[in-house]
Amino acid sequence: MSETLLSAWSAARDRLKAAGVDSPVLDARMLIEDAAGVTRLDIVTDPYRELSAAQLSAIEAHMARRAAREPVSYILGKKAFWKSEFTVSPAVLSPRPETELVVETALTLVGEETPARALDLGVGSGAIAISLLIERPMLRAVGVDFSAEALAIARFNAVAQIVADRLELRAGDWAEGLGEGAFDLVVSNPPYIRSGAINLLAPEISRYEPRAALDGGPDGLAAYRALAPALARVLKPGGGFALEIGEGQAEAVWAHLDAAGLTPLGVREDLAAIPRVVFGRKA
Ligand SMILES: C[S@@+](CC[C@H](N)C(=O)[O-])C[C@H]1O[C@@H](n2cnc3c(N)ncnc32)[C@H](O)[C@@H]1O
Repeated sequence: MSETLLSAWSAARDRLKAAGVDSPVLDARMLIEDAAGVTRLDIVTDPYRELSAAQLSAIEAHMARRAAREPVSYILGKKAFWKSEFTVSPAVLSPRPETELVVETALTLVGEETPARALDLGVGSGAIAISLLIERPMLRAVGVDFSAEALAIARFNAVAQIVADRLELRAGDWAEGLGEGAFDLVVSNPPYIRSGAINLLAPEISRYEPRAALDGGPDGLAAYRALAPALARVLKPGGGFALEIGEGQAEAVWAHLDAAGLTPLGVREDLAAIPRVVFGRKA
């Protein structure tokens, strides 16, 4: 019997469910759309459309990867974030919905009409910096990462989103080599998972995402220890900052910022009511 869109979808759903994937229906549909070159509407309105041998083999390849718990975003090579779609690869963290709170918070810290300079430390795919540049046409930004592969992805995304002329990408260790008092805004989503907890995370994260994007050292706070004094140095007086944090880290991160002479102003919670972004200003 020949395979149709509907039979392929239900077989894929069962296979992903058996593999422990927590959103098998959605993932099966997204992967079939991509592999077979069909739309959601095709699946709904023409479910008995027969699939060609080439489509079936492309679907099989996608499903084998997903059943091995590779994230959908790496299989598709893209991830939606804020108002855009970002190219991703295993060299970068797949941007997360909760990181949109960093963008939302940062936008409250810079004006719409005035030229300003922003710094994104650990720029990865460029999700935060590029979203800010899209929202603020007067903004220019520097994005730093120590991964050359991540910088290549960020560059590709900046070109695709037509903000490359306002984004300078630099290889470096956090803010090393950047001038004192040079930025109106600093944002960062640094690695903040405790080293010992990484292998306990879902295989999508522990097996596939870059360890350097996750590993926050023995207590998860190593990056904040480096970032707090760096922020104090590179921010202009009155400049703002917004940092993503891990669950339960708000107090410790706040203390590091305070000790560096910065003024933390508040902590914002994500949709799961987890304190997720610490923000503030340099006095
Ligand atoms: C959690 S990812 C965040 C990526 C992106 N900003 C986002 O929010 O999706 C952290 C990023 O920081 C980078 N990174 C880690 N340590 C660094 C360091 N010492 N200097 C520069 N970049 C670093 C990693 O390569 C990774 O791209």
